[in-house]
Amino acid sequence: MSLVVLSNRLPFALARDGEGGWKVEPGSGGLVTALRPVLQDRGGRWIGWPGVTREELEDAAAVFADARQHYGFDLVPVPLSNAERDDFYHGFSNEVLWPLFHDLPSLCRFRPRYWQAYQAVNRRFAEVTAAEAGAEDFVWIHDYQLIAVARELRELGLRSRIGFFLHIPFPPLDIFLKLPWRFQILRALLEHDLIGFQTVGGRRNFLQCVRLLIKSAEISGKGDVQTVTVDGRTVRVGSFPISIDAAEFARRAGDPAVIEKFRSLRADEPNRRIVLGVDRLDYTKGIPLKLEAFRTLLLRYPELAGRVTLFQVVLPSREDIPRYQRQKVDIERLVGEINGQFTRSGWVPVHYIYRNLEWPRLPAYYLAADVALITPLKDGMNLVAKEYCATHVNDDGALVLSEFAGAAAQLQRGAFLVNPYDTEGVAASLERALRLSPREQRLRMRRMRQAVSDYDIYRWVDNFLEAAISRDLHDFPIHEEYFPEASPR
Ligand code: G6P
Repeated sequence: MSLVVLSNRLPFALARDGEGGWKVEPGSGGLVTALRPVLQDRGGRWIGWPGVTREELEDAAAVFADARQHYGFDLVPVPLSNAERDDFYHGFSNEVLWPLFHDLPSLCRFRPRYWQAYQAVNRRFAEVTAAEAGAEDFVWIHDYQLIAVARELRELGLRSRIGFFLHIPFPPLDIFLKLPWRFQILRALLEHDLIGFQTVGGRRNFLQCVRLLIKSAEISGKGDVQTVTVDGRTVRVGSFPISIDAAEFARRAGDPAVIEKFRSLRADEPNRRIVLGVDRLDYTKGIPLKLEAFRTLLLRYPELAGRVTLFQVVLPSREDIPRYQRQKVDIERLVGEINGQFTRSGWVPVHYIYRNLEWPRLPAYYLAADVALITPLKDGMNLVAKEYCATHVNDDGALVLSEFAGAAAQLQRGAFLVNPYDTEGVAASLERALRLSPREQRLRMRRMRQAVSDYDIYRWVDNFLEAAISRDLHDFPIHEEYFPEASPR
């Protein structure tokens, strides 16, 4: 069985290099980080958008061929016209499904034109896939941009097994109901043989929507993989929290280039604690509220002035979408305000870095950070949290993590879990994390590292594929859920 992976993007995008030529920009975000080692390990084909139009792809053919060589697995490009990019990618994917599935329906623009483009582009992906995949292959479709591909594949007569994994959250019923195309989206999902969600809660939300909106559907089973029977077909539905190549992150922690950079970062902040945030530019990541929480920390604990520095790395993303541009302006204004308020000779409280980090900076930042501060308003998983833990092979450091990140379920025994909307609470947890004794750090970090290495990306793939093809569904691990603590009586 060979893998045919589909995602909106290939693991890189082609972009103009400013001198009339083309360059390759590695993709950001959890999907690419997680899937790249999988394809490198198992081989297979990856079908996706190279970030350009057909004409541009022809122009960039030599650069694309080089990238193909470099990645070591087969890459099949699906170019999009500019109109398709606007209505399918910016439009339906990122102005409808993205905000809706992150519980932000008021940010959605439900334009019928977007839905038309979404279906047309999903059909195109299906046509390319049908030409690539044989009946023995396993077609694995990823994420919210490609929910309607399987339906088209079935119409084209493809007989392969088809799995789908949603990298982002699946919203609660009340929110999903707002989608004008709610029936079509649910029906399209039910065309897969297996649908995977990041969390137990996401799976539960989905099944609740199916129960209410599709009267003929029958849901059965109890474990982590359940089944829905609809129109004579059986669809498996499971939760599979995505992970990282934990051993690779541990290895990087010992790389001489990483250690050298780590030392120079530490030397620049003598006798100071380093707090680190690494987020894609996105309103779901809660960066402005995080900055407010950091400001609150400096106000509530004035003794920390000059003794703690926040490094906030923001990875450029979706810069053509106005809401993302506004988010960037808000972040920059706040960074300026906080630095204006607290900077003093020899100390700038917030270091703001807006760019993709080149090797070996990211692992060096992870290593140098006494605390990672990761506070999304809602997040499918958040692999940065797992990467931070996997890098801390000496069992030092601490993690302050949003309750609303999927990763909270696996890291709950070691992280300080916070409500990102509660800036006072985040500041208080951050202060506690900064004061942790080496012994407490060790206890907490060890548990988190264990959780990440026990269920790494390879285990995740094995579990997903096993759930897709096994006869028996009884043995699937039951993943834990995270629930905020009840208030003390
Ligand atoms: C998230 C999504 C991915 C997406 C990534 C980067 O991780 O789940 O599907 O690829 O963000 O966003 P972009 O829009 O640049 O592909």
